[in-house]
Amino acid sequence: MSKIEQLHTKTAAAQLGGGQARIDSQHKKGKLTARERLTLLLDEGSFEEMGMLVSNNNKGLTLDQEAFLGDGVVTGYGTINGRLVYVYSQDFTVYGGSLSEPHAEKIVKIMDLAMQNGAPIIGLNDSGGARIQEGVVSLGGYADIFYRNTRASGVIPQLSAIMGPCAGGAVYSPAITDFILMVEQTSYMFVTGPNVVKTVTHEEVTSEELGGAQTHASKSGVTHFACANELECIQNLKQLLSYMPQNCQDDAPVYPYEPAAEERPALNTLIPENPNQPYDMKEVIAELVDAESFLEVHKDFAENIIVGFARIAGRSIGIVANQPAHLAGVLDIHASVKGARFTRFCDAFNIPLLVLVDVPGFLPGTDQEWNAIITNGAKLLYALSEATVPRITITTRKAYGGAYCVMNSKHIGADLNFAFPQAEIAVMGAKGAVEIIFKKDIDSASNAEVRMNELVDEYTNRFSNPYLAAEKGYIDEVIVPEQARKKLIRGFKMLENKVVDMPRKKHGNIPL
Ligand code: HXC
Repeated sequence: MSKIEQLHTKTAAAQLGGGQARIDSQHKKGKLTARERLTLLLDEGSFEEMGMLVSNNNKGLTLDQEAFLGDGVVTGYGTINGRLVYVYSQDFTVYGGSLSEPHAEKIVKIMDLAMQNGAPIIGLNDSGGARIQEGVVSLGGYADIFYRNTRASGVIPQLSAIMGPCAGGAVYSPAITDFILMVEQTSYMFVTGPNVVKTVTHEEVTSEELGGAQTHASKSGVTHFACANELECIQNLKQLLSYMPQNCQDDAPVYPYEPAAEERPALNTLIPENPNQPYDMKEVIAELVDAESFLEVHKDFAENIIVGFARIAGRSIGIVANQPAHLAGVLDIHASVKGARFTRFCDAFNIPLLVLVDVPGFLPGTDQEWNAIITNGAKLLYALSEATVPRITITTRKAYGGAYCVMNSKHIGADLNFAFPQAEIAVMGAKGAVEIIFKKDIDSASNAEVRMNELVDEYTNRFSNPYLAAEKGYIDEVIVPEQARKKLIRGFKMLENKVVDMPRKKHGNIPL
């Protein structure tokens, strides 16, 4: 065999991972192989593999293991829409994609290159966890990865797709990264699986119920996306990346856009006259941003707040918006944490923020108080207060109480604050306010109801509007809603070169 033939033979063996039978078994489960996933993810012909011939020589370290070229993970770099990315894709056909020492070293090498060269890293996870034969060496490999995930946080975007099992401590690498995408029915994440759960808590639960995509998309919020299948997951990864810069020193790419009409008359009638009537804030968003540019993140979790990426005049923005169509847009623990984490991502990666406000306040109740709405609500307040990216607020309707302050008010550093004429910016709603401050007056009236209504009207006229806030300069402009898109285009353009120097510190202490 010539030397070149010898290389081809080795390469062909590496391409097969754990062998054809295991590839067939992977396909039978409705899953693609590590290499097939990379082919779909990366621009055609752009993948450069590194470490294809790495193999496991840890024989005798604990238990013997047969060595496979590549050792259960395909690593390298390539491009997505022409932009450099580093990738690793775990190969379930080799020891269930479990993490050995060389497997971890390959991932670490790619992570170090991604950091040094300022490009995103994407992990496609499909793994049975620590390589059992390797004992603590595998745990060390995980910790090496966690450490790098943390160092890279806020420096380069880190995306994790979960395309099979991800259990035990292995979940903590994706958890530290910026976004998690899961595939329905074929992926799951949990710290302890159904068997341990049954032993410890006597609960009977399936893997899917305990840690499937829907569970984490709607109940825990661990995943940001639940994708119907692997193809959708890979498409979502690409779209997500399109809003992001390569690293924290860079700006997100600018896309061509249809310069559709700047004035949007539909906005004039979208907000109902009756302040108690819900409407869908996503319809407002659709009128404000470039056509088809909105990508909602965490769609099924804490639906009372909406977060997601979009573009305005071709430039990426992040949106944080109360959703009056769900729980009247109230802020609760989950909504606050969801909004805070998204805000911090945008701020870390120079993505300007648009905050849309229609919020009746924070959710009352023992459940919220005992589970620390104080600490959790403070996260959103803190995240917005520390954000130095361009920040624009539109108050579409209610902005009451502490939630007024939190939702990107002028006082916590917003650059431009607009309000629609329907806006009600006050300490609380008219009825609640009147019941407190005019209690004696109402109690002593001959007809309490009539008096109450008179006072509510009076309060509404004086306080439930945007004009007091505009008089104080807390609102820069009360705008006709149809003008909102135009104001945003001009506002974000005006703020394009914003620079803010933060006080010197090691890092802040966000209330965790
Ligand atoms: C070595 C493993 C492995 C592992 C699977 N395999 N997990 N080899 N170490 N952790 C091997 C199997 O022996 C099998 O080899 C092949 O991978 C496919 O596994 P199957 O069981 O046949 O596949 P499936 O039925 O789809 O089940 C997948 C699975 C199951 C649910 C992941 O294999 C499983 O429960 N594995 C163990 C998971 C686990 O306990 N991991 C350690 C967790 S502790 P062959 O030769 O037949 O193809 C942990 C700590 C991390 O991860 C801590 C970080 C700080």
